[in-house]
Amino acid sequence: MKCRVCDANLSHTFLNLGHQPPSNSLLTREKLSQPEVTFPLVAMVCDNCRLVQVPESKSANEIFDKEYVYFSSGSRAWLDHSSAFAKMAKERFKLNKNSKVVEIASNDGYLLKNFVEMQVPCLGIEPASGPARTAKINGIPTLTEFFNSQLASKLSIESGKADLIIGNNVLAHVPGLNDFVQGMKYLLKPQGTITMEFPHLCRLVDGNQFDTIYQEHFSYFSLTSVSTVFNNQGLRIFDVEVLPTHGGSLRIYANHSEDIRATLSSVTSLLEREATIGIKTDAYYDNFRVKAEKARSEFLLFLLSERRASKTVVALGAAAKGNTFLNFCGVHPDLVSRVSDNTPFKIGKFLPGSHIPVCSEDTVFKDVVDYALILPWNHRDEIIQKFRDKAKRHNTRFVTAIPNLQVYSPPDFTPKNLSYLVKPIYQ
Ligand code: TYD
Ligand code: ZN
Repeated sequence: MKCRVCDANLSHTFLNLGHQPPSNSLLTREKLSQPEVTFPLVAMVCDNCRLVQVPESKSANEIFDKEYVYFSSGSRAWLDHSSAFAKMAKERFKLNKNSKVVEIASNDGYLLKNFVEMQVPCLGIEPASGPARTAKINGIPTLTEFFNSQLASKLSIESGKADLIIGNNVLAHVPGLNDFVQGMKYLLKPQGTITMEFPHLCRLVDGNQFDTIYQEHFSYFSLTSVSTVFNNQGLRIFDVEVLPTHGGSLRIYANHSEDIRATLSSVTSLLEREATIGIKTDAYYDNFRVKAEKARSEFLLFLLSERRASKTVVALGAAAKGNTFLNFCGVHPDLVSRVSDNTPFKIGKFLPGSHIPVCSEDTVFKDVVDYALILPWNHRDEIIQKFRDKAKRHNTRFVTAIPNLQVYSPPDFTPKNLSYLVKPIYQ
């Protein structure tokens, strides 16, 4: 196995999550009686460029196919975040009706619709046909294609280069990372800007977010490692913001290396901070496994203890990260009977691996629920708010399992540790 950025041999394991089915491949009832394909889910860290990566075992073509069920418009908070970004970008980069914005992985048009409303010409590029179709129906110009250097050259010749290239939560999904970033170099106007958002590796480590590791996420970036990727392709990161989204993300701003805009102190100081916490040392990566295993033990102890007390547990949010977590823990419907989701495509299907049935948000509280496990902890506040009244009526407690197990009881839902988990399970 070779590093997808620098081609060095990969021999250093960051975290081994065992064999798992792809996290977003929900199963229909008919598929339940068929064999299920699993792949080794092992995150490695490159000793040379320090990119944390999951080697490709299922091709991107297979993952982002017509069965791909992730729709970005599912979260109100994410929609607000995207519209605030669009307004800021229009101001900061002085975009108008003569500009061109390209969004890579534009999904269902959740972000570009803001540019359409502001009359800034835009184009979405989205390989997953379900979300792309929704975008087109809603009047967002969209190409149903994978972005790569070949498509970028074609687009820049046929329809011109872009003033702003946006890519939110896509960089991690790209197996051919160097080619992808080279494509952005081709498609960017001389004074143009690239903005990309992705989860920050340092938050993954601090927040024990091992569940965000899955087959679709090929790379996990620090500012240090992503800078190498961009610099190698003649691009320079000149600004960075730390965002709370998706458990803690970075938004990088890049331009051509020779652009006259200076690199801001936000970049140099974050690079320094990463160096100080040891991002270039082995120790930083070697201690992570113990944290992940502790979260698993706590969760299993919780499930079994509550089962012994005849309590029922359901889950809220059939997130991909939930599948990594449930499958790492080896949980099945006997312990978590159902999971709700607000994505119509997911309802009526079954989670990969665990085979927990997905129901609508209206039916998840249909009978007694003692505990409701929030799988997408990144949407915790939004989900608690949504189910607050139902939980009060049913005396249901919410639970999050990452970074460690927390229980939120009515009426005030402030997080607490469970008494039987206070004592360490093992040292
Ligand atoms: P998300 O955490 O955004 O990403 P990932 O799948 O990569 O882990 O997934 C959130 C899931 O939770 C998505 O399937 C939509 C669902 N969801 C609900 O069912 N209800 C809600 O109120 C929210 C905010 C999300
Ligand atoms: Zn490398």
